[in-house]
Amino acid sequence: MKKVRVTFYPEGERVEARRGATLLEIAKEGGIFIASICGGDGICGRCRVIIKGGEVEAAPTTLLTREEIQRGYALACQTKALGEVEVLIPPETRAEGAQILIDEDAQRFRALYAVSEEQAFFRHDPLVKKLYLELPRPTLQDNLADQERLFREIRRYLNVPLMQMGLKVLQSLPEVVRRSDWKVTATLGRRGGTTELIQVEPGDRAGAGRNFGLAVDVGTSTVVAHLVDLATSQTIDAEACYNSQLPFGEEVTRRIIYAEREGLKPLNEAIVSDINNLISALVSRNRVELHDVTTLVCAGNTTMLHLLLGLDPSHLRKSPYIPTATTPPPVRAAEVGIKINPRGLLYTMPNIGSWVGGDITAGILATGLYQMEGLTMFIDIGTNGEIVLGNR
Ligand code: FES
Repeated sequence: MKKVRVTFYPEGERVEARRGATLLEIAKEGGIFIASICGGDGICGRCRVIIKGGEVEAAPTTLLTREEIQRGYALACQTKALGEVEVLIPPETRAEGAQILIDEDAQRFRALYAVSEEQAFFRHDPLVKKLYLELPRPTLQDNLADQERLFREIRRYLNVPLMQMGLKVLQSLPEVVRRSDWKVTATLGRRGGTTELIQVEPGDRAGAGRNFGLAVDVGTSTVVAHLVDLATSQTIDAEACYNSQLPFGEEVTRRIIYAEREGLKPLNEAIVSDINNLISALVSRNRVELHDVTTLVCAGNTTMLHLLLGLDPSHLRKSPYIPTATTPPPVRAAEVGIKINPRGLLYTMPNIGSWVGGDITAGILATGLYQMEGLTMFIDIGTNGEIVLGNR
C-alpha cells in the first residue's frame, strides 16, 4: 500500500497514511482535531482547511465559493491526499476557541468552594461516606462474628437495614480489625436499596481530606470534572477538557452511526481516558490520593452515558427510540476502566428518555425547578438543546 505524509499546521504535526485517504481521516488517525459535524459526509462544511502545497484530489462542493477554492480552501473530508501534502487548519476549524470557554467554566466551578453550609442547596448526605468506629472487642459473652460486629456498630449511627460486603473486604476483615485494635473506618456506598461496605481501613480516616467524590459533566463537546470533599461538601477544584470523541462526529447521531459501523469500543475508550486524565490532573494538583477518591457521579445526555458505560446506543436513534436503561445501576468504577479507589462506585444520573438525558435530570435537581411554585422553564443550551417546562 502506497503511503503519503501530511503535515498539519500551525502545529506542524506529521501523519503518515494510506495514499487516497481523506485529510479528515488522516487527521483523525494522527489525533488532530478538525471540526466535522456531519462526520465526513460533505454536507456540513465545518471541516474547512487550507491546502498550502502538495498533491490532492478534491471532490466538487457547493460549500466553498470559487474565491475560497482559489485561495486554497478545501473540505478535509472531501479531499484525498495523493502525495506529500501541507495543510493549514484555520482557527474556525480548530478547537482552540472553545478552550477559553472551558477554562472559564472550570474557574467558575472552582468558585463554588466558597459556598457556606447555610447557603448550600442540598442537605449534606453523600452517596459514599466514611464512618470512624471503635468496635467493642469480642468476649465469650459477646461473641458475634467480625462482620456482624461491624454491621451492628454501623447501625448504631446509621439507618441501614440492608448491608452487603464484597468477598475481598471480608477476607481482609479479621486482620484489619485486630491490627488496628478494633478502631476502623468503614466506607459505605449506596447501591440501590442496599448499602455496600466498600472498604474497611485501620484507624481514623473519616475526617476532611480523606474521602473525595467527583461530579463529572460528560458533554458532547466538553467534559468537566469537579473534585468534591465528601466530608464537607466543598468543591475543591475543577478541570475540563474536550470530549475526545469529537473526531468520531461532532454530534451524538454521528457517534451512534460510528459505533454501529465500527463498534463502540473506540468511543468508550475515548471518554474513559478523558475522565481518567481529568481525575489525574485534579488529584495531583490537590495532592489527593487516588485511593481516597471513592465515587464519581456522571451526568450527560443518554448517548454519552451509554457510550461511557459501554452500552449499545444503536436503538436510541431508531424508532421506537429505546435506551438500554434509563436508570443504569451504580457500578464499580474500575469495571468501566475509571481509575479511582479500585472498589469505588460510579453513579450515572437517571436519563428521562432516549433524547433527554441525565444532564437534564441534574439540571432540574440543581436549579430546584421541581420545588418551584410557578411554572418555570429550564433551557440547556449545549451541543444539542433541551427545554423543560414545569414546577413542583
Ligand atoms: S463537510 Fe462535514 S465533515 Fe466535511
